[in-house]
Amino acid sequence: MGAASSLDTVRTISSLRARIQGWRRAGQRIGLVPTMGALHAGHVALVKKSVATCDRTVVTLFVNPTQFGPKEDFSVYPRDEARDAALVAAEGADLLFAPGVDEVYPSGHATKVHVGGLGDILEGEARPGFFTGVATVVTKLLLQALPDEAFFGEKDYQQLQVIKKLIRDLDIPVTATGVQTVREADGLALSSRNAYLTPAERATAPVLHGTLAQVAEQVGRGEDPRAQETWAKAQLERAGFWQVDYVTVRDAVTLEEVSDASQPARVLAAAWLGKARLIDNVAV
Ligand code: PAJ
Repeated sequence: MGAASSLDTVRTISSLRARIQGWRRAGQRIGLVPTMGALHAGHVALVKKSVATCDRTVVTLFVNPTQFGPKEDFSVYPRDEARDAALVAAEGADLLFAPGVDEVYPSGHATKVHVGGLGDILEGEARPGFFTGVATVVTKLLLQALPDEAFFGEKDYQQLQVIKKLIRDLDIPVTATGVQTVREADGLALSSRNAYLTPAERATAPVLHGTLAQVAEQVGRGEDPRAQETWAKAQLERAGFWQVDYVTVRDAVTLEEVSDASQPARVLAAAWLGKARLIDNVAV
């Protein structure tokens, strides 16, 4: 572990592999935490989990262009590498991998990873191409680092399931571990995109988590998921969300619709508040 201000940083795949190989030869367990930077306490929870359970922790910082739609915020996505590096160094991470776009996608790069079914619904439907961009870059990062374990937030619950599925389908020898969503005191899930909220919208935003928690409780008690979804959508619209992309009760692994809570289920939603598209989910 280096000084908080000078986390060891590599920018090429070959130097990443050289560093990790040295650790692996020494018999150490490697943890990987993929991020796009603009780090907050949610990302820090993943780093803490990796540092606590692995001998070495590698954090990746790469704003992945292929997962942003043409009208999304790639060009204005917040970037502050020095701040992010200091934050993860203070948590005990060992290495930052911060490649440029050309290192990850050299000219002529043509291969994509598409997770059929699971990657096409919900977020995949609302944001075409999003999960193909995520699945492609995560596959590459896993193969570049070949960690023992990689850590992802339950905040992006469908993303976590997509990653678990591609790991199984492609036989990548890595365990993906989900980490509980870190929330503000009022329930709002931490997200870099919360910065797009005005103070009035910020005051409304916790209604999303509150609504999902109520649906989870009702469905857990045997209430009909479809009726709860209808109630939740109206509740969000009443609070000021101007568009509800979805609010839905799904199987916790396949994310297919469920008619009751007889199997592990998850309530997931995406809704617009001002300029921000907020997503959240809770367990039934
Ligand atoms: P990013 O949005 O930077 O998130 C990096 C990781 O932090 C993801 O696994 C995400 O689920 C987790 N995370 C974000 N907010 C969280 C919160 N409030 N509580 C717990 N975990 C949280 O997700 C991505 O980047 C990208 O899609 C990536 C996987 C890095 C591929 O480019």
